[in-house]
Amino acid sequence: MSRFHGRLTFFDEARQGSPVMPAKNNMGAANPSRHCYIESYGCQMNFNDSEIVASILSNHGFGITPNLQQADLILINTCAIREKAEQNIRKRLTEFRSLKKQRPDLLVGILGCMAERLKAKLLEEEKLVDLVVGPDAYRSLPALIAEAETGQKAVNVLLSREETYADISPVRLNSNGVTAFVSIMRGCNNMCTFCVVPFTRGRERSRDPQSIVRECQELFDQGYREVTLLGQNVDSYYWIDTHTNQATTFAQLLEKVAQISPYLRVRFSTSHPKDITDEVLFTMARYPNICKYIHLPVQSGSTRILQLMNRTYTREGYLKKVQRIREILPDCGLSTDIIAGFCTETEEDHQLTLSLMDICQYDMAYMFMYSERPGTLAARRYHDDVPPEVKKRRLNEIIEKERQWAWENMRQEIGKIRTVLIEGPSKRSDEDLCGRTDQNKMVVFPKKNFRKGQYVQVRITGCTAATLLGEVLEPAAEMV
Ligand code: SAH
Ligand code: SF4
Ligand code: F3S
Repeated sequence: MSRFHGRLTFFDEARQGSPVMPAKNNMGAANPSRHCYIESYGCQMNFNDSEIVASILSNHGFGITPNLQQADLILINTCAIREKAEQNIRKRLTEFRSLKKQRPDLLVGILGCMAERLKAKLLEEEKLVDLVVGPDAYRSLPALIAEAETGQKAVNVLLSREETYADISPVRLNSNGVTAFVSIMRGCNNMCTFCVVPFTRGRERSRDPQSIVRECQELFDQGYREVTLLGQNVDSYYWIDTHTNQATTFAQLLEKVAQISPYLRVRFSTSHPKDITDEVLFTMARYPNICKYIHLPVQSGSTRILQLMNRTYTREGYLKKVQRIREILPDCGLSTDIIAGFCTETEEDHQLTLSLMDICQYDMAYMFMYSERPGTLAARRYHDDVPPEVKKRRLNEIIEKERQWAWENMRQEIGKIRTVLIEGPSKRSDEDLCGRTDQNKMVVFPKKNFRKGQYVQVRITGCTAATLLGEVLEPAAEMV
């Protein structure tokens, strides 16, 4: 999987599903007798879960391999968010079928959200699958693999109220050695009517802040210079220390992580518009190393649709939050998620989404056609009544609007001087390096003697639709 440059929360189906490659110094167990190949789909949290799985397996004698032919065990960490995501995974499974025919002792396991959604049904539907393991059951993987090796099918899809894998140090897969993701909570307690996540990930629970700070400190000591704190709804992070009775809110956690070093950049995702607080915004303002970038999914610009979605905010409430962000953090990057064609959406509702986009002027958005998910409140209560061609046309109009603002925001950067954390060589040329600005925009610039992990001041000289072009001002700045 190539790193998801500039995109923090969400892997769209089109970009999903490449094998994970362990960092060179971290290939799992020493002299492993068996090898595991892991392929990941879905959101960044799912990718982070694959790193936890890799850690568990490497402690049980497995090496992690990017090479399918070398694998004794194939694990697919799946996503269930839209029907298309599941279709892609099923297609991939048929490709594994021929491999399994050649090598009957090869084990194939399905992990993650699709495993949780379909449970043992998957074994009936996909005959080649040997293991089905839900997101809270990864500690039982070694035992389940042992069971599957005896020829039995093995399933564990129990959800937990406590599991956060707090004590497990993820094996960093596909790492650039500079940026890393750290999960701070699991599950979700919001019941957005369109969403399958509460069913696949279970109840929301926060992870012990000490273990989060420790993991971030270790990453910094290993040379990482950016951490992204992950959760479905980071603003509802909340931890009570049972000994001291002291609470830690998300703003306080953010502060603790930011205090590790001014050279460690801190990002986070995703924020829920109903929960993001002024305290978080002021904390961001106080620490130059907390990146000024917020992913604030709106889903729709129509209050009526937002109510049907059970998002618990109105159009006006959302716009007030955005205004507050602009007041407290005038130079903050802003992105969002939008769903086109939710149940009963009229042309007027759709126009409200477009007009909200003009007000918010997003730097970037992930945009989707509504896809009904079995078992969700929307599937049970409402009709998926917007015809596919109408959904498609509305989505295209939303995409067109997003491009206009993204392009305009890129153009506005030209002439500015930005601090960039170098992530490595640019995709197109070895003569260029790339890294992101505080506001999460990717910049490409001539390599000279600079190297990854350094902070540099870059003058922005031009742009394409997705990338800024620039030149480093010398001498390079050492500070964030
Ligand atoms: N926790 C995040 C979102 C996680 S899912 C939040 O609350 O914003 C990522 C995005 O997928 C959602 O923001 C939504 O835009 C999209 N999505 C979720 N379920 C969907 C569905 N059934 N159909 C289409 N898009 C969906
Ligand atoms: Fe799904 Fe809503 Fe939870 Fe996000 S906040 S994961 S959209 S239920
Ligand atoms: Fe993530 Fe997809 Fe599950 S978005 S939480 S992997 S359904």
